[in-house]
Amino acid sequence: MNEFEPKYASRTKKIKASLIRELLRMTQFKDIISFGGGVPDPETFPINTLKRIAYDVIEREYATALQYGVTEGDRLFRENLIRFIAEKDDIQGLDVDSVLVTTGSQQALDLIGRIFIDEGDIILVEGPTYLGALSAFNINGPHYITIPLKDDGIDIDCLENELKELEESGELKRVKFLYTIPNFHNPAGVTMSLEKRKKVIEFAQRYDFLIIEDDPYGLLRYEGEPIPPIFKLDSGERTVLLNTFSKILSPGLRLGTIVGKKEVIRKIVLAKQGADLCTPTITQRIAARYLETNEIMEDIKVTRDKYSKKLKTMLNALEKYMPKDDSISWTHPKGGLFLWMRLPNYMDTMQFFDEAVNEYKIAYIPGFSFYADGSGKNTMRLSFCLPSEEKIEEGIKRLSNLIKKYMR
Ligand SMILES: Cc1ncc(COP(=O)(O)O)c(C=O)c1O
Repeated sequence: MNEFEPKYASRTKKIKASLIRELLRMTQFKDIISFGGGVPDPETFPINTLKRIAYDVIEREYATALQYGVTEGDRLFRENLIRFIAEKDDIQGLDVDSVLVTTGSQQALDLIGRIFIDEGDIILVEGPTYLGALSAFNINGPHYITIPLKDDGIDIDCLENELKELEESGELKRVKFLYTIPNFHNPAGVTMSLEKRKKVIEFAQRYDFLIIEDDPYGLLRYEGEPIPPIFKLDSGERTVLLNTFSKILSPGLRLGTIVGKKEVIRKIVLAKQGADLCTPTITQRIAARYLETNEIMEDIKVTRDKYSKKLKTMLNALEKYMPKDDSISWTHPKGGLFLWMRLPNYMDTMQFFDEAVNEYKIAYIPGFSFYADGSGKNTMRLSFCLPSEEKIEEGIKRLSNLIKKYMR
């Protein structure tokens, strides 16, 4: 008898072990080429600069950097962030009270779920969407409506049709927000066009819902011109913008940010107080001083260069080795860390996952795990950030052989 079992809260039943975390554990062995996790290449971490700053921060600023901090986040960090956001996204005039520092963007998603979602509320998500967002929201018992993705972002006609149907059935008031990853989508690799961003804002106003814009990858653009964030286009009226330093500096620092109207930030601060009091003050101060060096944009250029080469290698290898068949396709991202592959409908990427890992010594993420509605069994996410270019080529060759084996 397990004494703990009857004592768990009913919402605890909604927490499921992440299949992906379990799967990825299998792939940590050295002989496996993993296209699994979205784990940054450690060679992109600016270690010399961070080493020097961390030393100085502990020596000179220990009274702040090793102390509790305010829940909103280190003021110096928030001030420097405002300059950084103005530079990267041309969002001007932010006030420190419209910025909140979180323990990674993952915490931002958790807090957003807590303050907005009641059991049965409708949340609009893209199909596929970021798995970690689903995990963060699930505990609150939302009802998801999945809107498919196209090469230029969310299927806007489908979104409109869903909203019209909800209006007709009197259920529109149950809709809380649309969760979207507009730049170099995780997992799909696609980017939402400017026209679609404007349409999404128009629908949010017309049908009265909020927009949660999650943008970890916007600065990792390898070609083309940046597209303004939805937050900028709607002047932050209905949008909450999430950013993170995980992919452009280091995920170990656990630094994310939420930008939004002061009223909503105040509510999220209250929820965060009960969660962790404050994000580690030491990493905030290190990042604050790092932003002051003005090296971040230079460092990001080096990171972009590295990932862009890896992406090219993966795209070339796919072109070279994959069977030529209309039912096999993949996205051609212009940035980020992922591409998305579609296989013939009769294939199930979960079914041959074990074989991929144990016999072909490669790993990917089966696509169904990124769908709130459980579809997508013939899809997979491939991340190109961690393996070397040589390993990417070899891994794609092996993946092609595996797929060929299952072709009818
Ligand atoms: C779309 C998206 N949102 C949020 C996160 C969480 O990032 P972190 O908690 O490391 O800031 C990730 C990480 O991969 C992501 O891809």
